[in-house]
Amino acid sequence: MGRKRIGILTSGGDCAGLNAVIRAVVHHAMGNYDWEVLGICHATNGLMSRPPLVKHFDLDTVDPLLIAGGTILGTTNRGNPFAYPMSDGTVRDRTDEIIEGYRQLELDALIGVGGDGSLAILRKIAQQGGINLVGIPKTIDNDVGITERSIGFDTAVNIATEALDRLHFTAASHDRVMILEVMGRDAGHIALNAGISGGAHVILIPEIPYKLETLCNHIKKRQARGQNYSVVIVSEAVCTESGESVTKLEQFGECRLGGIGRYLADKITDRTGAETRVTTLGHVQRGGIPSPLDRLLASSFGVAAVEAIAEERYDCMVTWQNRQVVAVPITEAIATYQAVDPQDTLVKTARGLGVCFGD
Ligand code: F6P
Repeated sequence: MGRKRIGILTSGGDCAGLNAVIRAVVHHAMGNYDWEVLGICHATNGLMSRPPLVKHFDLDTVDPLLIAGGTILGTTNRGNPFAYPMSDGTVRDRTDEIIEGYRQLELDALIGVGGDGSLAILRKIAQQGGINLVGIPKTIDNDVGITERSIGFDTAVNIATEALDRLHFTAASHDRVMILEVMGRDAGHIALNAGISGGAHVILIPEIPYKLETLCNHIKKRQARGQNYSVVIVSEAVCTESGESVTKLEQFGECRLGGIGRYLADKITDRTGAETRVTTLGHVQRGGIPSPLDRLLASSFGVAAVEAIAEERYDCMVTWQNRQVVAVPITEAIATYQAVDPQDTLVKTARGLGVCFGD
C-alpha cells in the first residue's frame, strides 16, 4: 500500500469528542501507517477557499486533544453547499469548488465527522466528485441511523443528568415544579436517558404525544402524597398540546427550537397551582470535556475510519453495534432516522419507575 494523504473535517454543530476523533485519526494514520493527515478547516468551507484552508498535525502534540471540547478545525451548521448563501444575497451551488479543493490538496480519502444532515450532504458531493469518503457519526441528538451511539451524546446526557441532580434539591426545598428543557432536535434521546438517570418525575419527548391533564394529574397525585415538588424534563421539539412546534427566530433569520419549557410551566401553574421555574440547558450540552464513553467512542471510530481507508473501503460510515465498531454503507445510515421507539426498553424502564410521559 502506497503512502496516503488523507483529510479530515468536522461538520454540523460541535459536540464533545470531536477533537478526540482527530487525535485518534492522527495517531493511527501518521503513527502506524506513516500517512499524511490534513485537517480541513470550517467543514466544507475550507475546501471552497483558495487555497484550501488546512491544518497540519504533529504526532507528538495531539494528545491534549483527547479531552478538549469543541473542534480545533472549526465547523458550521449553516450554508448547505448545494444552495450556498452568497454575500450578495444570491444562492449558489458550490459543490464543484469543494471537489476541486479536494483535488488541489491531492487527497486520497476524506473522513467526514458529522450528523445525518452533514453526512447526507458530504455523501452527495463525494458521489458527484469521486471523493473517497468515510463517515463518522457525531451528534448530541443521537439520531443517526444504524449506530447505537454517536459521539457527543453521552456527554450531553451526563450534563443534563447533572442539571437534574441539582434541580431536585431546589425543587424539594421550595416546593416547586422545576422544568429542564434539553436539546435533541426531533429526537427525545437526551431527555429520555437523562430523565431516567436524573430521576425526573415527568419525561416529555416528541415521540410520545402527551396530554396536559395527564401530566398535571401526575403532579397533583404527588402533591396529594406529600411530595410537594416535581422535576420535569422536556425535549425541545415537544409541541404544544394542540401540536404546534415552539420555536424562536435566531440571527440570520434562522428558526431554532426552544420555549416549550416556558409553555409547560404556565400551563402547570394554571392547573396545579404549583410554583414553576424553567431551566433551558442550551449549548452547555454540546461543549466541554468529553465523557470517558465519548472518548472511547471517538477513539474507536477514528481508528476504524483509518482502517476503512487502509482497506480502501469507501462510501461507508463507522457505527457502534453490539459492542463492536462496524462499517456500514453511508446510504443505510442516513436512510434511517433514529428517533426514540415508544416501545424502547428505556421507555419501559421509565414507566416501571413510575415516570409519567403524559400519555
Ligand atoms: O443538532 C445539535 C443541536 O444542538 C440540536 O440539539 C439543537 O436543536 C441545535 O443543534 C442548535 O443549533 P445552534 O447551535 O445553531 O443553535
